[in-house]
Amino acid sequence: MATPRRTTPAELTAAAAASFDGCSDERLRTLMQALVRHLHAFAVEVGLAQEEWDEAIRVLTETGRITDERRQEFILWSDTLGLSMLVDALAHPEPEGATESTVLGPFYTSGAPLKDYGASLASEPAGDPAWLHGRVLSLEGTPIAGAELDVWQNGDDRLYAVQRPEAPEDHLRGRFLTRGDGTFGFVAVRPVPYTIPDDGPVGAMLGATGRHPWRPAHIHVIVRAASHRTLVTHIFDAASAYLDSDAVFAVKPSLLREFVPRAADDPDRPAGVDGDWFSVESDFVLVPATAG
Ligand code: BEZ
Ligand code: FE
Repeated sequence: MATPRRTTPAELTAAAAASFDGCSDERLRTLMQALVRHLHAFAVEVGLAQEEWDEAIRVLTETGRITDERRQEFILWSDTLGLSMLVDALAHPEPEGATESTVLGPFYTSGAPLKDYGASLASEPAGDPAWLHGRVLSLEGTPIAGAELDVWQNGDDRLYAVQRPEAPEDHLRGRFLTRGDGTFGFVAVRPVPYTIPDDGPVGAMLGATGRHPWRPAHIHVIVRAASHRTLVTHIFDAASAYLDSDAVFAVKPSLLREFVPRAADDPDRPAGVDGDWFSVESDFVLVPATAG
C-alpha cells in the first residue's frame, strides 16, 4: 500500500479557514477566516518555532493575569503595536478641516465635574499654569454653543489623578461647556512627558526590543456636541520631547500647539494665576453626525 501523502501547511490553513464556512453571521465568518489566514501566514513567514510560540502563550497568559478594572494590558499591546491608531484611522476618516482624533488611553474616567469658564483644572498645585482657550466649530466654521469639553491631563509629577488614590476627585480633570459664541477657556497646567505602564509584559517587550515607554506631553480632550460626531483627541505640547517616538504612535502634526510663555504682569493673566504662565490656543472642528 502506498504511504499516505502528508498534510501540507497550506492544507492545514485551508482546513482551519473552512471550519468557519458554516458560520451564519457573515461578518463573524469574515473576521475568523481572515484571522486564521493571517495568523498562519505570520507563522509561515517567520518559521515560528515551538519554543517561540510557547513563550508567546506565556506572555498572553501573563497579560490576562495582570489585567483588571484598573490595568488593561491588552489595550497597551494594541497601543504599542500601533493597532489602536490604525483602528481609529479606519473608523474615523475625517474630512479635510476636521480636528483629527487620537487614542483615548487608560486614564479616562467618566463623570468629571462640570467647571465654569475660566476655572482651574487642577485643585492643588500641579505645575506651570496654562490658559487653554479656543472655539468649538462646525466644519463650515459655525461656532457651536453648549459643546462639552471633557478634559484630563497629568501634573508635573507625571501622574494622572487616577494614578494617585490620595488625589482630590476633581484634580486635573473637568468638563467645560462652550459659551454662546463657541468659546471655551480654562486654566490647565503645562503637561509633562510620562511613561506608559511598563512593569508588565508590554514593558518587557519594549525593553527586549530596545524601545522606550515614553509619551510626549499632552492634554486629553473629548469634545461632544449635539448632532456631531464625538471627537477623542489630544493637544500636544509642540516643544515636548518624544514627539517623534511616541510609544503609542498617537502624535499627529495637526494636534501640536505652542505653549506661549506669558509674564506675571501680562494684563491678560487669568484670575487665580500667580507668577509666570503660558497660553495655548486650540480650536476643535467637529464632523456632522450624518457625515460618511
Ligand atoms: C495616555 O495618553 O494616557 C495613554 C495612551 C495609551 C497608552 C497609555 C497611556
Ligand atoms: Fe495621556
